[in-house]
Amino acid sequence: MEQPFIVGRPVTGKYFIDREKEIKQLLAILSGTSKGSINNVILLGLRRTGKSSLLLTIKKKIAKNKVIPLIFDAYGISTKERFGKAFINTVLQAYVDETSDKAYKKRIKKFLSEKFDKLVEKISDLDIGFAEYVNFQIKLKESKINEDELLEEALQYPEKCGKNKNVSFVIMIDEFQELLKWGEDFLKMFRKLVQTQKHVAYVLSGSAPTIMKEMIYDTRSPFYKQLVEIRINKLDQRSVSSFIQKRLKSVKINIDQSAVDLVFQLSRGFPDYVQRLGLQIFLDTLETNRHLVVQSDVQNAYSEMILKLDPDFSNHFGTFSDLEKEILIALSGGFDNPAKIAAEIRKPASTLPKTLMRLMNQDIVERYRDGRYRLTDPIFSDWLSRRYSSL
Ligand SMILES: Nc1ncnc2c1ncn2[C@@H]1O[C@H](COP(=O)(O)OP(=O)(O)OP(=O)(O)O)[C@@H](O)[C@H]1O
Ligand SMILES: [Mg+2]
Repeated sequence: MEQPFIVGRPVTGKYFIDREKEIKQLLAILSGTSKGSINNVILLGLRRTGKSSLLLTIKKKIAKNKVIPLIFDAYGISTKERFGKAFINTVLQAYVDETSDKAYKKRIKKFLSEKFDKLVEKISDLDIGFAEYVNFQIKLKESKINEDELLEEALQYPEKCGKNKNVSFVIMIDEFQELLKWGEDFLKMFRKLVQTQKHVAYVLSGSAPTIMKEMIYDTRSPFYKQLVEIRINKLDQRSVSSFIQKRLKSVKINIDQSAVDLVFQLSRGFPDYVQRLGLQIFLDTLETNRHLVVQSDVQNAYSEMILKLDPDFSNHFGTFSDLEKEILIALSGGFDNPAKIAAEIRKPASTLPKTLMRLMNQDIVERYRDGRYRLTDPIFSDWLSRRYSSL
């Protein structure tokens, strides 16, 4: 049975809506890549706003003649060695897939199966892109590895391969914020490469917008003024409404207009919640065997969706300190300015600013008007208030 909605993983095709403006902008910015006029992009959005889905969609849309698009997921990358290995292999695989140059990979494999000293001997006979790859693999076999060197070499590989084979790469690094842990030296090295490479354009995507932004806008930052910023937010009401109607129709369910409006109102246009709520509405109709969805059905589905998210939200909430937890609960209860929050949690007002600032830096809390704050994730806020407001 065709699924009306998809949750828990990036979506494309008919499950992907809106984002026309961002797609147009991204394709325009990247369109000079094959001619060597390179722009690099930073894509920012809160958690679950659809960054990975957008990258997948862009990957499909990029004209493949002479440009090879690839997505590298930095999530959970622990060491520089692991990054290097995975990165260089992803680039090689994308090159082989897109150019059908299978002989290249075969040659590499055959070559690497030879004895170590023979390999080293032969390396000077090789073309550059090839030699780089083999060199890298040889280094991995050495007992002492300089991780920084390895990382830099891996990042140079697409440029060398591109030059040698007359192709260009659009490399989209998803979850880029994971790499910020390597600090300023890494960023400096990376910037140098990004600036000088003629065959590679980068899209750096990350879900900690404030931290990522600091990386660009802090004048001391190596990336100051180097990246074109694209930001994704919520979906617009028109797209959400027609999506909900269409997808439910695909499983023979109708929904009345006020119920559609309520879906948008409750999901607040957050793509992840639009799909989750849609799926819950559909699942509920299976039980009741009804084919018309009305407002009360949406309301019930919403409560159920929040219940199902309980493990996720509990985990997430568990990562905060006690004071942060208190502040988040107060905010979810509608105490939206520091004085009210302080009174509610019985703490002197002076204890708040630092913690509030930290929560804002992590994009958990936002200032929505002068002096007024709220959680950036309205559904998480609802979950908190349902769970704690009566306590
Ligand atoms: N353009 C879209 N149209 C419809 N649904 C979308 C769209 N973008 C995202 N979604 C929904 O939101 C969910 C999260 O999307 P995605 O994984 O792309 O977000 P993300 O920003 O990469 O999240 P994370 O911060 O967790 O990496 C998807 O599973 C899908 O249900
Ligand atoms: Mg993602």
